Amino acid sequence: MVRSLEIGDVDAVLRIQKVSPELAQWIRRDYERVANGEMAGWVAEDGDTVLGFVVARKLADEMEILNLAVAPDARRHHLGSELLGVAFEWGRTNQIRKAFLEVRASNFAAIAFYERHNFKSVGRRQRYYVAPIEDAIILAASP
Ligand SMILES: CC(C)(COP(=O)(O)OP(=O)(O)OC[C@H]1O[C@@H](n2cnc3c(N)ncnc32)[C@H](O)[C@@H]1OP(=O)(O)O)[C@@H](O)C(=O)NCCC(=O)NCCS
Repeated sequence: MVRSLEIGDVDAVLRIQKVSPELAQWIRRDYERVANGEMAGWVAEDGDTVLGFVVARKLADEMEILNLAVAPDARRHHLGSELLGVAFEWGRTNQIRKAFLEVRASNFAAIAFYERHNFKSVGRRQRYYVAPIEDAIILAASP
């Protein structure tokens, strides 16, 4: 089940982030801001266990996917797709025309995942990431 990210989910989200080095590593306060409604966020859970999350924000008529991850043991069971689907539904409800995101150039799993969901490469930011330094690929899709 996918539902809105709440304050009680922040510990579980931080645990998934910790074992997902591909992610932008946010601090607790960032996810508390999501839970408080400053950004949009959802979790996927099985029973009481949070297995994945996505965070997005609206910028005029575009949306940015800021972070999306599924716990390593739960990957390839379409939870990521469910999370993206809910974020896209929110986008359509909010008159969003385009969704975009940045991903590390070496993150082939995420690039394959996003391409599966009709994202296309629209640019590259040189040396965008640190530790390790790496280019970002910019991907965009219509929600
Ligand atoms: C990217 C990520 C969220 C995908 O979540 P997921 O729940 O495993 O993805 P799904 O099961 O919904 O995958 C849907 C489709 O995407 C593609 N896909 C997903 N992971 C893939 C992989 N590792 N290699 C190739 N294709 C992949 C496949 O086509 C897959 O369909 P299939 O399993 O029926 O073949 C997950 O791999 C993850 O958490 N990665 C680490 C964090 C990250 O990189 N986040 C993105 C940066 S913001």
